[in-house]
Amino acid sequence: MASMESAADRTFRLRWERWSPDIRSGLAAVHHDRVDEVLARVETILRSAAAARPDDLRELDEARLLRPDWLQDPSMMGYVAYTERYAGTLTGVGERLDHLTSLGVSYLHLMPLLRPREGSNDGGYAVADHRSVRPGLGTMDDLSALAARLRERGMSLVLDLVVNHVAVEHEWAERAIAGDPKYRDYFITYPDRTEPDAWERTLPEVFPDFAPGNFTWNERMGRWVWTTFNAYQWDLNWANPDVFCEFLDIICTLANRGVEVFRLDAIAFIWKRLGTTCQNQPEVHQLTQALRQAVRIAAPAVAFKAEAIVSPDDLIAYLGAGEHHGLVSDMAYHNSLMVQLWSSLAARDTRLTEVALDRFAAKPTTTTWGTYVRCHDDIGWAVTDADAAAAGLDGFAHRAFLSDFYAGLAPGSFARGLVFQHNPATGDRRISGSCASLAGLETALTSEDEGRITDAVARHLMLHAVVMGFGGVPLLYMGDELGMLNDADWATEAGHEDDNRWVHRPRMDWDLLAAAEADHASPHGRILVGMRHLIGVRRLTPHLHASVESRVVPSPDPRLLVLRRDHPVGAMVQVYNFSEETVWVDAQPFADALGPAAVDLISGHRWNLATDRVSIQPYQPLWWVADR
Ligand code: GLC
Repeated sequence: MASMESAADRTFRLRWERWSPDIRSGLAAVHHDRVDEVLARVETILRSAAAARPDDLRELDEARLLRPDWLQDPSMMGYVAYTERYAGTLTGVGERLDHLTSLGVSYLHLMPLLRPREGSNDGGYAVADHRSVRPGLGTMDDLSALAARLRERGMSLVLDLVVNHVAVEHEWAERAIAGDPKYRDYFITYPDRTEPDAWERTLPEVFPDFAPGNFTWNERMGRWVWTTFNAYQWDLNWANPDVFCEFLDIICTLANRGVEVFRLDAIAFIWKRLGTTCQNQPEVHQLTQALRQAVRIAAPAVAFKAEAIVSPDDLIAYLGAGEHHGLVSDMAYHNSLMVQLWSSLAARDTRLTEVALDRFAAKPTTTTWGTYVRCHDDIGWAVTDADAAAAGLDGFAHRAFLSDFYAGLAPGSFARGLVFQHNPATGDRRISGSCASLAGLETALTSEDEGRITDAVARHLMLHAVVMGFGGVPLLYMGDELGMLNDADWATEAGHEDDNRWVHRPRMDWDLLAAAEADHASPHGRILVGMRHLIGVRRLTPHLHASVESRVVPSPDPRLLVLRRDHPVGAMVQVYNFSEETVWVDAQPFADALGPAAVDLISGHRWNLATDRVSIQPYQPLWWVADR
C-alpha cells in the first residue's frame, strides 16, 4: 500500500502523525469524551484544505518549513493599514506597494476587511460574513491576487481573525435568533438576569462609555446574549466544538487565499468561567494549541499572532508556557512596552519601565513579539499599583497624570490626545491620538518653534528606535512613517462619531508623503528619512534576532533606558534618553559590557568607552556593539 501512496498523501500522513497528538491533547482538555468525534471532523476539514492548497502556497509551505524562524528575523518589518484608508481598494493597495517596499516592509496587516455589519461595526471587528470581502474593497479573488502580489515582493499578508464574537447580522446569529437549536448553541444566552448578574459580579467592562455591561437583551429571542464588546458583537460559545470546526475551516480557506498570519483578535476572552474576569482561562490555550497545530497540517506557512492585551504574567501563556511551549501563538503584542514608552516620555523617567519590563519571564525562544509605538486602538494605562509602588509612584496618581499629560491637560504637556472611555468607577481614562500628535509634533508645528519641532521629531524617532531594537516584528502603523498628525475631521464620518479612536486612523496623506520626499529637511521629511534609516540598519543587525531577549540594565540615570541583548555574535547595548536634556554618565559599565570601543549602529559613530564619562544627547537612541 505504501508504494501506492501519492506524494501529497504521504505529506499529509507525516504531518498528521507529527501534529495530531497536539491537536488531540488540546481538544481533550476541552471536549473530554467527544475528542475522537471532533478529531475526525478536524481531519476531514484538513484533508480537503490540503488538497485545495494552491501550488505556489505549497512551495511557500516548504520554504517556511526550512526556515522556521522566519518571523524572528531582523529583516521582518510590519506595516498596519486600513485598505480603504491606504488605497481605497484591495487592487489599489496592490498599486501602492512601492511605498511599502521603500520602507522595507515584509509583513502587511490589512485591518479587518471581511464583510462587517452595516453601520457601526467597531472598525470592522463585527464580522457578518467570513467568506466575503467588505463591499467596496473588492472580492475574495482580489484578496488572493493581492496576496500573490505581496508574496512576489516578499511581503506576508496578515488578517484579523475575530474569534471572540460575530456581528448580530452574521448568519449564525440570525439562525440562532430564528430559533435553530444548533446555532443557538453557537452563542451564550440566558432567559433572565439570574446568570448574567452572577457573571457581571467579576466581569470588567471593555467599553463602559458606549457599551456598558456584558449582556444584551435580544427581543426577538427573548433572551440575554453575552456581548463583551458592543451590543451588536455576539460572543461565541467555544465550548461548542462546532465553533472550533467552523473557525478551522475559515482559517484554512483564507490561508489558501494567501493569508499568512492570523491576528487572533480578543483571544483572551473566548473562554468563560464563573467568578473570574473571563480572560486568560486555561482553555483559551488548549483551544489555541488545537487550532494552531491543525493549521500546521494544511498550511505550514501560516503563523498566529495573539492579540491579548493582558498583564505580563498572563501574556507569556499566549506564546506557550509549560505544556503549551511551542504549540500556541508564534507572536504576541507587547502592550506593556508600548504603554511604558509613553509613560517614560511623559515622566522623563524610565524607572517604572525598568520595573515593568523586569516582570516578564523569558518568552519561548521560537516566538516573537509584535512591538509597536501606536496601533489602531486607544492607549490604556496598564500600570499596576505594585509596579508603580516599586518605582516609588502612586499607581492611581501616575495613571491620572498620564491621562492628563496625553490629553494635553497637564502643565508643560507637549501632547494632543483625546480621552477615550472615561470610566468613573475606576477613574480610568484611556487615550486616543496619533503617534506624532502624542509625541508633540502637532503642538510644535503650531508654535513654529524650531527647537520644539526638533524635540518632537527626535521623540518620534526614538520611540520607534526602541520598538525596532527590542526584538520582534516592529509594527509600523500607517502614517507614522512620516509623522501624520491627528485627523481633525475624524467625527464627520457616519458611524465614527462616538468612537474617537478614529482620530488616529486617518486616510493616508499621499500629498504629505510627496512633500516629505521632496524636502527631507522638513519635519515630516526628517521623520521619513529617519524611519527608513532605522529600518535599514535593523535588517542588517543579527543581534536583533527575536530568539534573543532584551534585558533591562539598571540605568545609571532615571532619564535613560538601557537594554542589553546577548546574541552569540556579540553583546549589544542600547541606550535611550527619554528627556530633552543632555545626560552625562559613567562610561565604565558600558566598557565592561562592550570593551573599550563601541560603534553606534544608528549613527555609525565610533565611541571611546575607555573614558570617564559619556554624554547622551536629548532623545538620542544608541545601538552600541563592540567596535572590533
Ligand atoms: C480588539 C481590537 C479592537 C476591537 C476589539 C473587539 O481589541 O483591536 O479594535 O474593538 O478587539 O473586537
